Amino acid sequence: MSISPMSITLGPNAPKTSIEAFAHINGLGAGTTVDDLKILALAEAIGKELYRCMAEGAPNEAVKELLLANGREELAHAHRVGKAIEILTGEPFPIPPIEENPVYTPLPMMPVTKQALERLAEGEFAGDQMYDRIAACFDNPEAIALFRLNGKEESEHGERLQRAAALCDS
Ligand SMILES: [Fe+2]
Ligand SMILES: [Fe+2]
Repeated sequence: MSISPMSITLGPNAPKTSIEAFAHINGLGAGTTVDDLKILALAEAIGKELYRCMAEGAPNEAVKELLLANGREELAHAHRVGKAIEILTGEPFPIPPIEENPVYTPLPMMPVTKQALERLAEGEFAGDQMYDRIAACFDNPEAIALFRLNGKEESEHGERLQRAAALCDS
């Protein structure tokens, strides 16, 4: 039995599914609130699950390792955003296990092809820009540093996915 985390309070328009959570964070920019950061932290945690599922369908070990490496860092991103929330509000925001994540729903199976990896790489590069926009919404230097570090790693994820795409035959 797992220990229940403190109940997570999300805003009234919070997403209800993984797909909605990803759509929500893609739109973040000027005016990002702490409620948005909570969705972001939870979506990053789903990112780990997304990469874990994709790794199962990887065409070879090298691609699998690259996907799992990205996934591990997505969970680290979730914890960093949680830390930023704590810095900004004084309230801890622990990241729940995936089965207790209130915006998680099982992800559709995604075939691991060269094209899919290249498209996902574009999403990761966009994630770097998203973190720039988010960082611009806050004054706290410690929180800003956490957002910038996540952003830099999103670009590295994009580069890893391009390497993975090159390792796929089709
Ligand atoms: Fe991330
Ligand atoms: Fe990423």
